Parts: sequence; structure tokens; C-alpha cells
Amino acid sequence: MKILQITDTHLTGDGRPLFGSSPAQRLAAAAEVIRRDHGDAAFCLFTGDLADDGSAQAYRQLADIAATLPMPCHFLVGNHDARPALLDALWPAGEAAGGFAQRAIDTEHGRFLLLDTQRDRAAGGAYCGRRLDWLAGQLQRAGPRTRFWLVMHHPPLPLGIPSMDQYALDAAAADSLWQVLEPHRERIRHLLFGHVHRAIGGSWRGIPFSCAKSTNHQVALDLRSRGVDVPGGHDAPGFAVILIDRDSVVVHHHEFLATGPAFWI
Ligand SMILES: [Fe+2]
Repeated sequence: MKILQITDTHLTGDGRPLFGSSPAQRLAAAAEVIRRDHGDAAFCLFTGDLADDGSAQAYRQLADIAATLPMPCHFLVGNHDARPALLDALWPAGEAAGGFAQRAIDTEHGRFLLLDTQRDRAAGGAYCGRRLDWLAGQLQRAGPRTRFWLVMHHPPLPLGIPSMDQYALDAAAADSLWQVLEPHRERIRHLLFGHVHRAIGGSWRGIPFSCAKSTNHQVALDLRSRGVDVPGGHDAPGFAVILIDRDSVVVHHHEFLATGPAFWI
């Protein structure tokens, strides 16, 4: 099974450029590459910060671009998003569990759990008791052979980039999340998140994770800056192409704007 992860599209409702590039043009370029090369993907996960300004206009723009893709698309909420406007434009009616942007998607390789880590549009993430209850129910009620995939906007761990680590999932929330996940640890295959605008892989308490690049602007690999502002850069934008088999998960980061002549090696 092939799936795609697109993250941190940061669309601007009025079409203005953001940090010198057009989020809509870049997402449209990614969509063109996906139609050409990845039309066989089972679905595409958009992991939050879909609209930079949370405007209804930006979500309509995203719905229009997503409609050009041949596979189903699923949308998560990030800190920049306005949850009601996002749910209204991009979610199937009545599917948001308890009003949060959370739902489960069953696939041939297990159940994808889409988690809502937004804290009132503050930059950092949270995960409250109501959301935990839903997650615990999903994990407990599934059959013993069900495998799980966690999908969220904020990372539940620091990544060594201090300016972004201060805006990760709140440490207490990450611990509460772990209390719920730990009994099911062996059944969790992978964790996907966005928010950090970089291609990153590793593991958290034994769970493999990956983070994909933004389709618009990137966070710099700056392991020292500790101010409130985040150092950014225009490294190549990307999306992730994830190949899943019974015994493997492979995450490719595709820099879709790369140009230059192709050649055989
Ligand atoms: Fe973002």
C-alpha cells in the first residue's frame, strides 16, 4: 500500500505569498506531481497547518486542489487552523469525534488514528481528557490483531531544534498520551506528524516516527537558537511517499520542485 503525507501547506486565503513563495502555487505543483507519479496511492493525509490564517477561503482553495487528486484525502488540524472552518470545508459531516478533528480510517494494513492536538490556536499542542478517552476507546475496542498508525500535527517529543521544541506537544500531554498508548505499544506501527517543516525520522519510546517537509517554507536546521522566533529557510519543499507492507514501512521524502536534467546512474 502506498500513501502520501502532505503537511503545513499554510494556504493564505487572499492568495498573498508567504515568506516569498505562494503556498497555493506550491501545493498545485505538488498536486501535479502526485497526479503524474502517485495516482496509485490509497489516500493522502494532510497533517495540519492547512491554512496559514484559518480562513474559509483558504480551506475552499484546498478543497479545490484536493479534488484534482485521484485518491481520497483526509485532513488534520494544526495550530494555525480554525477547527470549525476546516471541519466545515474538508470533513465528512458528523465525523468529528466529540467536536474534535479526530477519526479512524481502517485500511488493509490497520487502523489510522487521526488525532487533534490543537490548543486554542496557540503554537504548542495539547491533548485533553476528552480526546484521550476517544483514543483509548479506539485502541481498546479494536480486535487483538488490529495494527495502529498514529497521525497528528504536533510531535510528542523534542527534536533537538529548541525554537520548535518549545512549540511541541505539551510535555504533560505527551505523558498522558503515552499512558494510553503504552499497553498497545506492540500494535502501533508508526507515528506521522507535521509542524516541524523538515524531513525527520526516529523513534519515540520505541515507536518509529517520521515528519515531512512543508509544501511551502521550511524550518532551518538550527540546533542552537532559543528565542521565541523560529529560524526558517527556503530548502526545497516536499511531501512524503510512504510504502507499507506486512513487515516494512518506507518513508520517501520527495522534493517535488527539484529541477535539472535527469540521467541514468
Ligand atoms: Fe506549520
